[in-house]
Amino acid sequence: MSNKKRIGIMTTGGDCSGLNTVIQRVVRGAGMRGWSVIGIRGGTDGLYCTPADAIELTNENTPVELSRISGSVLHNGSDGAMNFEKAATQGILPEYVERLHKNLADLNLDTLILIGGNGSMSLAWSFKEMYTGVKLVCVPKTIDMDVPLTDATIGFNTAAQQLTNFCDQLILSARSHHRWFVVQAMGRDCGKLALEAGVATGATAILMPEIKFNVENLIEHIKNAPTDYGIVIVSEGVSLRGHSGKAAEMIARQLSAAGIVCRAEYPEHFQRAGDTTVTDRVIAASMADCALHAIENNETYVMTAMENGECKTIALAEFFNHGDLIPDPHIPGVQTSNAYVEPDDPLLHVARDLGAYIGEVK
Ligand code: F6P
Repeated sequence: MSNKKRIGIMTTGGDCSGLNTVIQRVVRGAGMRGWSVIGIRGGTDGLYCTPADAIELTNENTPVELSRISGSVLHNGSDGAMNFEKAATQGILPEYVERLHKNLADLNLDTLILIGGNGSMSLAWSFKEMYTGVKLVCVPKTIDMDVPLTDATIGFNTAAQQLTNFCDQLILSARSHHRWFVVQAMGRDCGKLALEAGVATGATAILMPEIKFNVENLIEHIKNAPTDYGIVIVSEGVSLRGHSGKAAEMIARQLSAAGIVCRAEYPEHFQRAGDTTVTDRVIAASMADCALHAIENNETYVMTAMENGECKTIALAEFFNHGDLIPDPHIPGVQTSNAYVEPDDPLLHVARDLGAYIGEVK
């Protein structure tokens, strides 16, 4: 059998920084092995087209200078397109999955590299029939850092840098007006992005969905802070019993009611952009290299994972079994594997020991 492989690559879920680094390094490494690379455009949107929306990727159309730019040259998909959730809602999930399977099979790939988050990987685990006849290597990317069994995901570090930059600028205005800014971090149900950026920017308080907090204690902490201005970072998944609305707005209302002058701020998708940091590029390059070795070794249903600075593959079954499984609200029978800030996360103690209110951590 010839060693010349034809591999596919696609980006699914939300965009982030570092996707292009993986794509460019995969193309580079595949070319060195004499393999060809087919890029599927628009994630599952492109795969749903018949034939799939795919192009051959080369060193010419994926130049190295592209690899520092956020987003994905292959695109991640559009809100209006058919997807797993819509197909489930419309009762056409089996037909949807069958079409993805057929179009993927028609591409005649040896292996597909799927760059996606915990949602995409959980779907890949739940709908294995989609990948019949093709091997699957997943590369975890997400700014939320909610993927179990890896020390790092592509995009997180740049997002933490972006959020830190945002707060670093905002605090100058806060100081000028003796005011507080309540900044809402992305992250879904995981507080890691808020925690990391909060420690980096020196936030006065960091609120995460995983850790119970007490509004009175938060108010007292702010009133006793050494400055009359500062940053409170609130993860978007934070809720407050008896209140509704965006997390930052809810907290800002409570602070205002207690006489603390404050505004809610939303960096939103700015967190997903930004030139890819060195850390994210190194993770992306390590994961691309690891994925190529996995393909050489004929591995399938694996995910690349960082452990103590090294990249290795782990079975997708392990990713799924080690996460906290939560049912998908839209797709019956499908569960998503999640990771959260653990109570023994050393950064929690760093934040608290250096004066940040992080909730009622023992
Ligand atoms: O999962 C990445 C993420 O940016 C979350 O942090 C955020 O809740 C969500 O995606 C936003 O999604 P959208 O771009 O569809 O609004």
